[in-house]
Amino acid sequence: MKATHIREPTEGTERGVEWSAQLIENVQFIYELALAELELEAFGVDFKLTNSLRGFVLRNIPNVDTLVRRLAYFKTIGHRTTDYYRLTRYNQTRSVNQYLTHWIYPYKGKFHPQMIRALLNILKLEANETVLDPFIGSGTSAVEAQLLNINCIGIDVSPLCILQSRVKTESIYVVDEIKRLREEAIASFKSSNHADTLVSKENVAKDYNGFLNSINDERVRNFYLMAKLVAVSDRARRGRDIVHSFIKNLELMISSVDDYERAVRELNLQLGKVDMREGDARHLFLEDESVEGIMTSPPYSIALDYVANDAHAFEAMGYDLDKIRDEFVGVRGMGGNRIKLYNEDIAKSFHEMHRVLKKGRCCAIVVGNATYQKHEVKTIEFTIEQCKKLGFTLMNNINKIIYGLYNVMQTDNTLIFRKER
Ligand SMILES: C[S@@+](CC[C@H](N)C(=O)[O-])C[C@H]1O[C@@H](n2cnc3c(N)ncnc32)[C@H](O)[C@@H]1O
Repeated sequence: MKATHIREPTEGTERGVEWSAQLIENVQFIYELALAELELEAFGVDFKLTNSLRGFVLRNIPNVDTLVRRLAYFKTIGHRTTDYYRLTRYNQTRSVNQYLTHWIYPYKGKFHPQMIRALLNILKLEANETVLDPFIGSGTSAVEAQLLNINCIGIDVSPLCILQSRVKTESIYVVDEIKRLREEAIASFKSSNHADTLVSKENVAKDYNGFLNSINDERVRNFYLMAKLVAVSDRARRGRDIVHSFIKNLELMISSVDDYERAVRELNLQLGKVDMREGDARHLFLEDESVEGIMTSPPYSIALDYVANDAHAFEAMGYDLDKIRDEFVGVRGMGGNRIKLYNEDIAKSFHEMHRVLKKGRCCAIVVGNATYQKHEVKTIEFTIEQCKKLGFTLMNNINKIIYGLYNVMQTDNTLIFRKER
């Protein structure tokens, strides 16, 4: 429906069948307003944008409860505060996007979680349906799907990404055991790193690797491996003292998992199932027509070397960087060959996405054009062309332009396709 401007309704009132709805304060960009409108359309609501451009009047709402529980860009519907707004209050960081466990590990190139929640709505995914993210990265789609009771299959070639995605979504189920082992973890980390200065030998049973190996539950072991890698990363990137960083981040990680557990209880949420696995987006292990939606962002071409970026963590996990590099889309080959290989690789992954998606359902792909050796690599146009050939119809092409530090412009497009055949 086309938005027309009308007077602001009295804030927070329900006038007959009309409801007022207010955007959350952090909504600042045109693409966010576009996504907010698409969310309302997805739930079959008629709406008008008010003159403030921050409020809507809603009509013919099939189910107000659904809007309160699911919308991503709205703070209030009538007098009711949305679940999303309440969820963002459970935040151990100063960044509004890094609520609950999203912040764990400083991964470059994360999705904006609020946008993912909106897209899951726009893809019309219902509770207990399954969304696939074949380039799961730091697990943003997994956390957001889990919060909406949508099942999520996440795949990534990087073991570090799978570890992050699991820790962010699975620690909530073992929070008591995580807390029970806290002191032992700190003592063994100190012993491994400052053995002679900080801890006397008799106080410490094992070093940190011994401690990790002694944990039976994989989810608890993953949590403590992640805590170590967060500290390794802090030292590599910012030169921080590793023991100090470990203790500080461990406290924050535990508080975030606690927050998650509390949010689920206080908002009475049902959580979706998560299945995070190492794999290759070019050869998915899934059956044809087996998922109800796809939400993903392939590697941004050649722009970011994901392998070099996390080299310290891969090494700490005991991986051979050259071997890992072979399977990474976007970092194979040099010069013109790199672009050719990149295009071949993402085309294969689009083919796989088309194969596993159910007919009539939708797929959202976030991509940007990158510059490589002074040439613009037109990934957006390439994606549209390839997906159309496969039998997808382009439903929306939403352009996101953000001016960052020093007015550097960053453009991403969110492409929403429907599988017609
Ligand atoms: C743009 S990032 C995804 C970021 C993610 N949306 C997030 O919020 O963190 C692209 C991801 O693709 C992964 N990747 C690269 N080659 C892959 C392949 N062949 N199969 C699966 N994943 C791959 C990289 O490890 C990286 O995590």
